[in-house]
Amino acid sequence: MPCVVVIGAQWGDEGKGKIVDFYTDSADMVVRWGGGPNAGHTLVVGDEKVVVRLLPSGILRENTRCVIGQGMVLDLPVLFGEIEGLEKRGRRGIAERLVVSNRAHLVLPYHVLVDGLREEKQGIGTTKKGIGPAYEDKMRRTGIRTGDLVDFAGVAQKVEAALEQWAPVIERFGEKVPSVDSVLGPLEPFARRLAPMLADTSLLVNQAIVRKEAILMEGAQGTLLDIDHGTYPYVTSSSPVSGGAAVGVGIGPNRIDSVVGIVKAYTTRVGGGPFPTELDDSDGIHLREAGAEFGSVTGRPRRTGWLDLPALRYAARVNGLDGLAVTKLDVLTGLRRLKVCVAYDTPSGRTDDLPIDHLHVPGRVTPVYEELDGWTETLGTVESLDALPAAAQRYVDFLQKGAGVPLYLVSVGPRRKETIVLHHPFAGRTA
Ligand code: IMP
Repeated sequence: MPCVVVIGAQWGDEGKGKIVDFYTDSADMVVRWGGGPNAGHTLVVGDEKVVVRLLPSGILRENTRCVIGQGMVLDLPVLFGEIEGLEKRGRRGIAERLVVSNRAHLVLPYHVLVDGLREEKQGIGTTKKGIGPAYEDKMRRTGIRTGDLVDFAGVAQKVEAALEQWAPVIERFGEKVPSVDSVLGPLEPFARRLAPMLADTSLLVNQAIVRKEAILMEGAQGTLLDIDHGTYPYVTSSSPVSGGAAVGVGIGPNRIDSVVGIVKAYTTRVGGGPFPTELDDSDGIHLREAGAEFGSVTGRPRRTGWLDLPALRYAARVNGLDGLAVTKLDVLTGLRRLKVCVAYDTPSGRTDDLPIDHLHVPGRVTPVYEELDGWTETLGTVESLDALPAAAQRYVDFLQKGAGVPLYLVSVGPRRKETIVLHHPFAGRTA
């Protein structure tokens, strides 16, 4: 059975939640490997809409085990709030099906504080959930891990050491440095509830691979937000690219059978940073309104723009994409003409590649567009590509050829049934 990695091919918010939930029908295990409560994966089941931030999107399926890998950063009140929220909606056995790495790092109140204080000056437009500072602590080797909470008395010393590092930063902003007790006190009840969920999740996932279970690795954020491969410094602090899955879970890269890239039929971005195909006209407003493009974590309106094929080819390259899942095609309905960026003009000539190292200099590179016809028909619950309006078929074909990656799926609405499947990465299992 395959081990399938699903990643965002743009700047996040590509609709990964729906696709992961859809594929999870055939998966025994769903594993998250990176990021933290900055993510917001929206699942629509029947008339019910659920947003998960830390829980793997497989959590709604009662036969699926869900794993939080050690590459994630966890805010425990957020995690348990999510679990309780689902339980209140009548979902059973959430905590029993969830396994959390004993090496995942914690997002603590001082991380959230510093993220908020620094953001004004940096202008990255972070989600202010403490993600950057939590990963900074991890890299500086002053982070607190989930497994540390088992010895609750011993962890106080570690928090003290971390606070020593953060104190000058916090004081520079004229804020009071929190005490160790104020950090740890509220955490104690969560630490007790977390203890039975902790495990060496690398061992668990590798054992599942040996048993030939179907494993879905669920990415968060997107390729262009990757700390190494994104539009630095306007990025998150983790590795949303497919390689991040191997590191963030603790499996060999050769255990991954297939990588599926999720790409929205247009582009969005939240927060600051370059976005060459961005629109500030009525087409951009159409995309925002028809696509409900408002951040699921922060509620911020998302920036909207045309599809960028050089960026998609870049994502195909750095992730090793085997297949594409195109989402939100229905949002384009009603636009008379559709533009797609096919190349870039740069000071050294025209290129088919994404000039990622030049994007941050305003005006240095210009997108080259091709125009395609739009369509007016609602896409509804069409089940095959042939049933799409001719212009929509041409658009999807143009996207696939431009990306140079086979099409696995096209989503034409938020519901599970609004999905055209061309190839299932868990082929052989029931879809
Ligand atoms: P941080 O991850 O909160 O540090 O934010 C860094 C950048 O990544 C900001 O531009 C955020 O808007 C963006 N970002 C973080 N998580 C997501 C996500 O799940 N979807 C889209 N953008 C995100």
